Amino acid sequence: MLTKAYAPASIGNVSVGFDILGAALKPISGAMLGDQVSVEDAEQYQMTCDGVFAHKLPTDPSKNLVALCHDFFHEKLEEKGQRPRILKLHLTKNLPIGSGLGSSASSVVAALDALNTHYDSPFDETELLLMMGELEGKVSGSVHYDNVAPAYLGGLVLMTEQLPKVAVNLPVFEHWYWVVCYSGLSVSTAAARDILPKQVALQDTITFGRQLSVFVHALHARDEDLAASMLSDVIAEPHRKALLPKFDESRAFAMENGSLAFGISGSGPTVFAATNSLASAETIAAWLEQNYIQNEDGFCHVCQLDIEGASAKKESK
Ligand code: HSE
Repeated sequence: MLTKAYAPASIGNVSVGFDILGAALKPISGAMLGDQVSVEDAEQYQMTCDGVFAHKLPTDPSKNLVALCHDFFHEKLEEKGQRPRILKLHLTKNLPIGSGLGSSASSVVAALDALNTHYDSPFDETELLLMMGELEGKVSGSVHYDNVAPAYLGGLVLMTEQLPKVAVNLPVFEHWYWVVCYSGLSVSTAAARDILPKQVALQDTITFGRQLSVFVHALHARDEDLAASMLSDVIAEPHRKALLPKFDESRAFAMENGSLAFGISGSGPTVFAATNSLASAETIAAWLEQNYIQNEDGFCHVCQLDIEGASAKKESK
């Protein structure tokens, strides 16, 4: 029996919800913007990788994030009194590391979803999500769910981070397009967090609370102009945009060409533009492709939200 899981890329923060809001992405081209993990019973443990960005992974397979997921999942399984089996794991690494597209979250979510499905779901959704957050924290140096939660649950997800419901799915504007452009440079989340001030000014705290709460209200009220007008970031973007060549020009072009909002995806360097017009999404994507991309690793996709999130299924071989 082989179990395969896919988990989509995601926009962390979505400007307005630093560390607690994230959106799962699905390119309208049908391209696979997310990692895939397969799990299979075996005689001997094995961890292998392929995919466009596999060459950027640690060469020692025991350091691979999916191997860490395997060890962590088996520890938790033993704590539940279940016996781990010998497995063969394979990762197809489609997302670039340090891109701001939730690359590590995508691997973690696909791995844990595949493992959980393979063992017939010993962990419920909440337990699994908490495990995903913990693992993401081991990689990025701090626990934040704004990539793992959308990659797992799909759509636009707001974290409550407390029981009884650790994450909630927000209503979305189905007709919005999300253009994402990865410059090709690598920015580590830990480094992008280090440059942030450890204290936030009172005025910015009030602005953050106001914008996030009005944004959530506007989603429920189906008021897209109001929602779009709240999509700005007073916490991270002012400090991080200096790391992103051509950020201001890109925003100016996007906003002059029908974008409702423009910001940094997660900790960057990927940027996103949200628009309700496909023509405008395509114009912005073409410009970003020409102007924001810095090297051959960069790419641009016009996306909609991936409402389904991670998907895992068993296949008989
Ligand atoms: N929310 C975190 C940050 C991770 O901005 O540092 C983003 O993916």
